[in-house]
Amino acid sequence: MKRRPLFAANWKMHKAPAQAADYVVQFWAAAEALVTKADIVLCAPFIDLETLRVELAPSRVRFGAQDCYWEASGAFTGEISAAMLAALGARYCIVGHSERRRLFGETDETVARKVAALLAVELTPIVCVGESLEEKQQGLTAARVTSQVQAGLGALSDEQRARVAIAYEPIWAIGTGLSDDPVTANATIAMIRGASGGLADARILYGGSMNADNAGSFCAQPEIDGGLVGGASLDPRGFLTLIMNGLKAAA
Ligand code: 13P
Repeated sequence: MKRRPLFAANWKMHKAPAQAADYVVQFWAAAEALVTKADIVLCAPFIDLETLRVELAPSRVRFGAQDCYWEASGAFTGEISAAMLAALGARYCIVGHSERRRLFGETDETVARKVAALLAVELTPIVCVGESLEEKQQGLTAARVTSQVQAGLGALSDEQRARVAIAYEPIWAIGTGLSDDPVTANATIAMIRGASGGLADARILYGGSMNADNAGSFCAQPEIDGGLVGGASLDPRGFLTLIMNGLKAAA
């Protein structure tokens, strides 16, 4: 069965609620026509999620978070649980983004806990993996991403693995304008799929300087099921064009 494409915006630390609402006004009607062919999700700062719940209510565009905590509730100052996200109506949550691994101490172990917590409340984790420039230069890409996938998904059943999305994001390609070569990214994603069982039906996305101009060349690759998009998702019209170009190439 062909996997359903997924395009996820990662707004990172951008947009206050008023800007999020403004974005949806410009985005959702045109996006609605694309939702027949792909899942579309806006992963926003926590403070925007209630706004997105309200503004996206008439739409099939989904919203999600960029991180969560694995305990359902308790004395965890500053944290938001997967269960709380589910209660709000979020459907997705990014886990293990390289910025969180590098700047905020995310580890393979905490990624695994968050993935399990999200699946338990029926959210789709978008698990980020990717190598540094140094690792790429040393030929360690396959070893790095395989170990991240094994650590993050190792305890899951095949049924659970099929519900996870993975984003392959080479760290050196994030926010740099230096996207990976689509053929190379496709080979890495094929390797990820092959190295761990149960991933035949899981969506695996490319991320790292994806934009409206290069989305088609990534989405034309057979193993690439869509994109996790940072900078190029911040403008609603630009993100729509990116999705349209990606879907055209994937068809
Ligand atoms: P850019 O698209 O800005 O390179 O960011 C990619 C990313 O980190 C998405 O999670």
